[in-house]
Amino acid sequence: MSLEAISGLLQKATGLDVDTVGLPVIRQAIDDRMAECNINNYSTYYTILNKTPGELQALINETMVPETWFFRGQEPFVCLRSYVMREWMLKPDKDVLRILTIPCSTGEEPYSVAITLIECGLKPSDFAIDAIDVSTQSLDMAKEAVYTDHSFRGVDPILRKNYFSKIENGYRLNRNIRDLVKFEHGNILSLDCPGNMALYDIIFCRNLLIYFNKETQDNVLGKLHFLLKNNGILFIGHGEAGCMVGHDYKSIGKPSAFAYSKSDKEIFVPPQRKLKTPLKRRTNQHNNIKTNNNAGIIEECSKKKERDPTKILEDARQLANIGRLAEAEQKCRENLETDGPSAEAFYLLGVILDAQGNKSGAEYLYKRAIYLCPDHYQSLIHLASHAERQGDMQKAEIYRSRSEKHAVGKVGKQ
Ligand SMILES: C[S@@+](CC[C@H](N)C(=O)[O-])C[C@H]1O[C@@H](n2cnc3c(N)ncnc32)[C@H](O)[C@@H]1O
Repeated sequence: MSLEAISGLLQKATGLDVDTVGLPVIRQAIDDRMAECNINNYSTYYTILNKTPGELQALINETMVPETWFFRGQEPFVCLRSYVMREWMLKPDKDVLRILTIPCSTGEEPYSVAITLIECGLKPSDFAIDAIDVSTQSLDMAKEAVYTDHSFRGVDPILRKNYFSKIENGYRLNRNIRDLVKFEHGNILSLDCPGNMALYDIIFCRNLLIYFNKETQDNVLGKLHFLLKNNGILFIGHGEAGCMVGHDYKSIGKPSAFAYSKSDKEIFVPPQRKLKTPLKRRTNQHNNIKTNNNAGIIEECSKKKERDPTKILEDARQLANIGRLAEAEQKCRENLETDGPSAEAFYLLGVILDAQGNKSGAEYLYKRAIYLCPDHYQSLIHLASHAERQGDMQKAEIYRSRSEKHAVGKVGKQ
């Protein structure tokens, strides 16, 4: 087995496009791992990689570029602050503000988000920040939260004074901010959106898409679209605007923030103003969640008995048929959340998103449907016409001939 086979495996696992990242960078990481394992040929390493638990993760850790710093790009954080103060805080029915940063690398980005929110005057219980990365090594460093000058380029020294304590080997982020971020190991390629049903108001996905090929970029943007609430905002990296072409996101009109809204609604983000809100003390919000005792479990069980998944989907279908799309969407999500993934629910939710104009979200769901049920006729047909609309006749033909193979015996059941 060759170097190419190993880098192919890495690309499959992480999405990183070997041509974009560059074979020399990948070769260096592989060579370093081989030296660590006392192996001197690619063929043996390939076998080890496939057989040894943990070796693929070690190679992933070795390959990743964790380059990041506090308030990177600055403008997205100004924009986040404007959004929170001018939009979110004014909402009469606001829920917890949910934010995802993926990839979060060594933590500077999600912690910058946390500091921004605290400086807006939000209480820790007002928001939740999830931070995900594929590198366990970076996540360990993120949780440790000890940083050197390298992470503070361009950062106001006052900010460092306010939120960090000087220690022997750098600066440690104060506990009250550390506790505001929940770190998780995860891969953007395998985020299971409908199972989690976690919908976010804001997603930061910066400086990752650029390393993917077009197909992976499109898949990831479809997933993120699904995870983002209507009117939610997606922040991407400054070199990644080109990836958004053909997707159902709309720039919010702040070019240097690289921020996109999911809806057609124009979001007005006014210019930055100086904020004087002092830092609020926090309690650990993730530890605040109290699991209820038996009473809650009993209530949950009796609710389950009342729930009929087929009926919920049927209701969703009827609501969709009469154009009540938001309610239909809600029912489908309820069904997925309570009864787990099913091809029917993914397909129906896909049709609803399609009707709402969310093409990439719909496409993602049809793909989920055929993943669960490879001969799901309607999903294959929808995927074929999506591909046609995008001018990809070859892909359309593949979906169509797959659907034709399965058409026999399906007619009449639809
Ligand atoms: C250049 S850093 C970007 C960090 C931060 N978002 C920023 O813009 O400063 C890229 C990160 O992507 C992570 N990464 C690469 N592939 C990934 C994947 N498939 N899923 C999740 N994270 C991934 C790497 O581990 C690395 O920490």
